[in-house]
Amino acid sequence: FLLVISLVIIPVNGGYDKERDALLKGTFPQDFIWSSATAAYQIEGAWNVSDKGPSVWDTLAHQDNNRDTGDVACDSYHKYPADIQLMKQMGLKYYRFSISWPRIFPTGEQQDGVNQDGVRYYNALINELIANDIQPMVTLFHWDLPQVLQDRYGGFLNNHTNTTVIHDLFGDYARFLYQNYGDRVKYWITFNEPWITAWLGYGIGNFAPQHNEPAEGQYKAAHNIILSHAKAYHIYDDEFRAAQGGQVGITLNCDWGTPKTPADADAALRYVQFFLGWFAHPIYKNGDYPEVMKTTMARKAQEEGRTTSRLPEFTPEQKLSISGTGDFFGLNHYTTVEVTDACCTPIENPNYDTDKDVGTGHAPDWPRAASSWLYVVPWGIRNLLGFIKEEYGDPEIYVTENGRSDHDQDPAIMMDMERICYYMMYTNEVMKASNMDNVKVKAYTAWSLLDNFEWLSGYSERFGLHYVDFNDPTRTRYPKASSVFFKQLVRNNGYPE
Ligand code: NOJ
Repeated sequence: FLLVISLVIIPVNGGYDKERDALLKGTFPQDFIWSSATAAYQIEGAWNVSDKGPSVWDTLAHQDNNRDTGDVACDSYHKYPADIQLMKQMGLKYYRFSISWPRIFPTGEQQDGVNQDGVRYYNALINELIANDIQPMVTLFHWDLPQVLQDRYGGFLNNHTNTTVIHDLFGDYARFLYQNYGDRVKYWITFNEPWITAWLGYGIGNFAPQHNEPAEGQYKAAHNIILSHAKAYHIYDDEFRAAQGGQVGITLNCDWGTPKTPADADAALRYVQFFLGWFAHPIYKNGDYPEVMKTTMARKAQEEGRTTSRLPEFTPEQKLSISGTGDFFGLNHYTTVEVTDACCTPIENPNYDTDKDVGTGHAPDWPRAASSWLYVVPWGIRNLLGFIKEEYGDPEIYVTENGRSDHDQDPAIMMDMERICYYMMYTNEVMKASNMDNVKVKAYTAWSLLDNFEWLSGYSERFGLHYVDFNDPTRTRYPKASSVFFKQLVRNNGYPE
């Protein structure tokens, strides 16, 4: 009887668990990859040098005068050698950055012309990395879609039910990058966080290209992104793998969803399937969306009096070509949410999601970073890594982003104790996943090397291991305390005795 009572009244997650949360001594596997990450629009600046075309983020940022823009950002287009010295000082041997599609093909289409200065820039960056013994990990698409592709074809909404031009255009772009840089780049990430592009870019529409169609924009865009990813994967496989011997994957983001009470367990699972499974299930499993997504969306269609589901279908050929298109599983993870089954109490929860039928919230004792969505819940990453191992056949996982933001105006911004604490706790949980749960986690990447343009939040949220003063025309970089902590962590490869 007491057990039953305690199950009902004790929240599953709230509070401190001294066993679960204890920091462990130990080290990571010997070949563990330590890296830091950035993205083109967030750091490069030089938004219109030589023939670079505008991206959808240039357009959004220039909409009115009150917004921060990426026009100059960290000026890494000119200051990349300084960035590389920061990595070198930290002992990092890998660097994850992204290539700007419109810096290579100004309109997004090769036939309209190639921007040779852009091609030269990434050659110089890659060569400088290698000269400093740092391996490049390259993201092909980190949200800065060429504006012309949005205008001409609707971007990732392009004719979603049939073979579309956007898949081929993404494939052409990928091929060009493999051709030009694949002799030196051995790690390719096709898309960064397609969940964000789909939901925020084409569903809610607050992120570029600001297409607002919350009923189904996100499902159509995601469908196209998955097919574009598969295309880029097969091009590598068919034309480059034998000669270049690299790896191609995708980076998916997911917040861990933990049930608020034991009765919310199914809802929490549904939350993760709609979030991560949406992309991971087709790519790392059977070429198709998760069962729970298909059945839930079919039920929604019935309730809405529609004849077809808002979730598109893949053809049998498409399923075959999507399944197994990841040599590694790229994961961006920052935070955890508490999930409530909201099917019966939809209006009471302000964060009610009508497709998933879940409400989301946060335990009162979870500390919060500067970003409104970022609660610090270190054990969430261990759960999520375990979920990926179980669900997707024990893949090699590269954590391609993890980190914490401060407010621009926080005092003692260089003495970023909370960031140190975040990295210590989260990497310790990754180590537990690796050493205690046998998850094949091969890499950990800190977001970010530098303070940079945090999308809609502009420069007001700082994720950097290095400080950048965005009013200083020289954009000098200054190491924060966390960069020294991280350097020690890399040198020790964990937390040895
Ligand atoms: C994930 C994104 O990939 C990155 O661009 C962003 O800055 C960080 N999350 C922090 O929000």
